[in-house]
Amino acid sequence: MPTIIDGKKTSQDIKNEIAARVAEIKAEGGKTPHLAAVLVGNDGASQTYVGAKVKACEQVGFESTLVRLEESVSESELLRVVEDINNNPEIDGLIVQLPLPKHISVERVTDKIKPEKDVDGFTPANVGRMTLHWPAYVAATPYGIVELLKRYEIETSGKHCVVIGRSHIVGSPMSILMARNSYPGNATVTLTHSRTKNLAEITKTADILIVAIGKPEFVTADMVKEGAVVIDVGIHRIEDSSKKSGFRLIGDVKFDEVSQKASAITPVPGGVGPMTIASLLYNTLLAAEGKIY
Ligand code: GUN
Repeated sequence: MPTIIDGKKTSQDIKNEIAARVAEIKAEGGKTPHLAAVLVGNDGASQTYVGAKVKACEQVGFESTLVRLEESVSESELLRVVEDINNNPEIDGLIVQLPLPKHISVERVTDKIKPEKDVDGFTPANVGRMTLHWPAYVAATPYGIVELLKRYEIETSGKHCVVIGRSHIVGSPMSILMARNSYPGNATVTLTHSRTKNLAEITKTADILIVAIGKPEFVTADMVKEGAVVIDVGIHRIEDSSKKSGFRLIGDVKFDEVSQKASAITPVPGGVGPMTIASLLYNTLLAAEGKIY
């Protein structure tokens, strides 16, 4: 049986560590870390994610501010909101939940966020710093995966790491982190995407396979090498009338068959997902303590 990489437990461990540090800061009379989240519109998934982030702030003793804006808000108004938060000394970290409505430029909004408060690690400054291996806020999902690899002591040096998916949020930064010359890195990395030819031939050579393609159960057992470590970033709601909720969650990996071959694997739910919030909290703590800039 493979090791099941338990993101739920690991994220709880991290939240406990953060809560302990917050308690120390408060006891020393220091400033309580404060995260601001901006949510535009009524997208159901975004509301769920932002709600979970705000709740997680409460759990570790952070302050949080949720700014909700109408779907119809103008780009200039959103930029003004970001600027106000940039200039508010009470707030340490700022996230603007994506996706944004089509009439708003993600680039202009992201570029407006002060890098010192960019706890999502999405600004060009932080992506550049991460790439240079300078102190940086690293995007929550890749950072969460790095933390899982560390805490499960997964050997990465000299291994072949295949990443499926080249998004700015996951695949691309993941490939950079895995190639860096520190643990968990030093891997030989292949970044694959929708135009990759003979994908299965490549994935079959992966010692570590990180899947962030956004297609339900895309990776099947025949695409995986015996003993591989498999990290599944996908999360999809599938209707299932046998469940009380009427749905179940599945990943980008066909868990039942791939887990027969893997040496370690993340489940969905309870794998990478919970780690993203823990990483965001950790970045906010770093921001509050002035540890990056
Ligand atoms: N939308 C999906 N993932 C994320 C994330 O990590 N941060 C933000 N701001 N929006 C997202």
